[in-house]
Amino acid sequence: MSSPLRTVAATRYVTPLREGGSLPGLVEADDLGMYVVKFRGAGQGLKALVAEVVVGELARSLGLPVPELVVVDLDPDLGRAEPDHEVQSLLRASGGRNLGVDFLPGSFDFTPLVRDPGADLAARVLWLDALVLNVDRSWRNPNLLLWHRDVWLIDHGASLYFHHRFAEGWRPAASYRYDASDHVMLPVAGSVADIDAELGPKVLPALDDVLALVPDDWLDPAFDTPDRARQAYRAYFAAKVADSPRWVGEVEATRAARV
Ligand SMILES: Nc1ncnc2c1ncn2[C@@H]1O[C@H](COP(=O)(O)OP(=O)(O)O)[C@@H](O)[C@H]1O
Ligand SMILES: [Mg+2]
Repeated sequence: MSSPLRTVAATRYVTPLREGGSLPGLVEADDLGMYVVKFRGAGQGLKALVAEVVVGELARSLGLPVPELVVVDLDPDLGRAEPDHEVQSLLRASGGRNLGVDFLPGSFDFTPLVRDPGADLAARVLWLDALVLNVDRSWRNPNLLLWHRDVWLIDHGASLYFHHRFAEGWRPAASYRYDASDHVMLPVAGSVADIDAELGPKVLPALDDVLALVPDDWLDPAFDTPDRARQAYRAYFAAKVADSPRWVGEVEATRAARV
């Protein structure tokens, strides 16, 4: 069993980060750390927080660089003195457990134009995103940071988008198409089939520990128990790993058409 995500308490709301639509904010916590917080009361709700943990921690367990993820306990009164009305109502709606991403100070957006990431790392990122259906790694919106000369992966909240329909009784399948043509790593990536041969067999063995890191109260109450919800995510990954010749083949075809 892995240990749970570290929990910190928010002590100060510093500033909003207005790039995406979800209004993440920079928050200081009682360990004196600074975190980029994804709020439970934001538009995409708890599903985005679940996707951040499942994808971020799976990526980490497969050796990809992801900033530390923590649970940020927030007192909704923290927004009392906040002049921005939108931020104030977001904080009011976000009492309890939120997601924090360790803030990388001085980092900036990475694309292969900034520096060549290497064919191997590029292929790993492309493979991960195809596995988890992450559409947020385009040239316009790479969600990669360069920090201390290294590339870091952030912002996985839009992945696993099928879970927005769990409440409709909907079950995940392996059959969703992933369009890699806009992926920021596509022109520089090496063989995704090689990465799949290496990392594919490691997904399911890593997954139970990863899913255990998701706080119970973030999981969809449409399932009888939190563990039933975890099983639905597991079923998706099991189907996806079994179906890898198809989707890896599609990514490779997109890569061949581009290169
Ligand atoms: N851990 C981090 N360290 C430094 N900057 C970050 C970090 N996480 C996010 N940012 C900055 O905040 C922006 C928005 O965060 P992101 O996670 O991409 O959320 P969204 O795109 O949903 O608004 C990023 O594009 C990046 O510039
Ligand atoms: Mg983003």
